[in-house]
Amino acid sequence: MSTLPANPQVVTHELRCVHCGKVQETADRMFRCTQCSELLEVVYPEWADAPREFALRLKEIWRERRGSSLPENASGVWRFRELLPQVDRQHIVTMSEGNTPLVPLKKAARELRLPNLLVKHQGMNPTGSFKDTGISAAITMARAEGFSWVCCASTGNTSASVAAYAARAEMKSIVLLPAGQVTAGKLAQALEYGAHVLQLRTDFDSCLKVLHEVVRKFPAYLLNSLNPYRLEGQKTVAFELMEQLDWRVPEHVVVPGGNLGNSSALGKGFMELHNLGLIKLLPKISIIQAAGANPLVRTMRENGGKELIRVNAETRATAIRIGNPASWRKAVSVLRNTAGACEEVSESEIAQAKAELGAEGIGCEPASAATLAGLKKLAAAGFVKAAETVVLLLTGHMLKDVDYMKQAPGQSLLGPMEADSDTVITTLEKIYARH
Ligand code: F0G
Repeated sequence: MSTLPANPQVVTHELRCVHCGKVQETADRMFRCTQCSELLEVVYPEWADAPREFALRLKEIWRERRGSSLPENASGVWRFRELLPQVDRQHIVTMSEGNTPLVPLKKAARELRLPNLLVKHQGMNPTGSFKDTGISAAITMARAEGFSWVCCASTGNTSASVAAYAARAEMKSIVLLPAGQVTAGKLAQALEYGAHVLQLRTDFDSCLKVLHEVVRKFPAYLLNSLNPYRLEGQKTVAFELMEQLDWRVPEHVVVPGGNLGNSSALGKGFMELHNLGLIKLLPKISIIQAAGANPLVRTMRENGGKELIRVNAETRATAIRIGNPASWRKAVSVLRNTAGACEEVSESEIAQAKAELGAEGIGCEPASAATLAGLKKLAAAGFVKAAETVVLLLTGHMLKDVDYMKQAPGQSLLGPMEADSDTVITTLEKIYARH
C-alpha cells in the first residue's frame, strides 16, 4: 500500500531579490528586483518551519514516484515537486527530463588516483543538454500564466530546448542566436522544432541585451536563466544525484560555467537539501570556465567576487562563450557557501579532456569536458584529495558539436581506400602491430 499522503504538501513560494532581499509582489517581465534591479530567486518560506519528520519523508515520497508512470512522476524534475512552485498538473510540460545516468570513470580515475570519480551525463536529456530540466519548469510557469509565446537568447542548447518544449506545449518560440557561433546540430534542433530563429550579428551577451528590450515590448515569456523558475528545474539535478549516491554526499561536484545559471541552480539544490536536514554536509561546488571566457575566474581572483569583471569571450567551447554572465552574484554565493574553487582551462586542456572522456565511451560537448580539464588542475593543486568522491556534471551530448571532432586529438579515421579485403587486411595488420 502506498505511503504517500493523499494530497502532497502544497507549499507556496515567493520571489526574493538575491541582493537586497526584497520580496516581490509581482515579477516583472525581466524577473528583476523592483528596488535594486538584481536577480530574483524562488523561496519557500513554509519549508523553513516544516516539521523535520515531514522533510525526511520526502526521500521516501520521491523514491516511490520513481515506479510510477504518471508523467509528473516520470519526470526527473516534477518528481521533486514539493520543492518546486506549485502548479496545476494540467499545465506541466514534460518529456521525462532529468533521469540522467551516473557513470564511474575508469581510466581517468586511475590516472588521477581518484577511485571515486563519476560523471553525471546530463547530455542524456530529451534534447541532449541539461537545459531541459530548467525549461520544463519555466515553460510550465509560462503556460500556467497564460502565455502563448516564449523566447530566449542562446549559445545553442537553450534554444534547442525552448523550441522543443514550446512545440510540446503548443506554444510559439522565438530564439536570438549569435550568427555563426552556434553549432549546426543545435541550430538544426531549434529549426526542427519550429522556433522562429533570428541570427544576430553579435555575441551571446548582446543577444541577451537585445532580448531584454524585445521582452518589454513583445508579449513573450523570457526563458533565459535569469528567469528564477528555470533554476528551480535545474536544481533538481542535486536531488537526483543524491538519490543515485544513496544520499552519501560527494566531496566535490564540478560544473562548467557560462551564464552561471547552472552552477547557481546546483548550489541552490544542495543548500535546500541541507537546510531541510536531508543531507548533513555540502559538497564543494567548483566552477570551471574556458580561459578565453573567464569572467567569474577573474572576478574571484581580482576582487574576491565583489564586482563582475566582464570579458570579451572567445573559446571553441561555444556553449560557454559568455563574457557577461547574468547569474554571477548567485554563483559567487555558491562558491562561498560550499567552499568550491573557480578555475580556468585552456583550449588544448579542454580538447584533451574531451578525447579522454571519449576514450572511455563517454561523449560530451567541449564545454562539458572543461570539468575534467578543471579537475586535473584542482587535483594537481591538492584541492581534491585521493579518497574523495568527485562528480563531474557533463552538461551536453557529444552529437551537439560534431565539427569539433575535426581538430580533435587521437582519432583513427582511415581512407577512403580500395574496397577489397587485401587492402583492408594489410591496413589492419599495421594497426595490430601498433597495439
Ligand atoms: N554546458 C553547456 C553544454 C551549455 O550549453 C551551457 C550554457 C553551459 C554549460 C553553461 O551553463 O550558462 O548555466 O553557466 N548554455 C547556454 C545556452 C548559455 O544558451 O545554451 P550556464
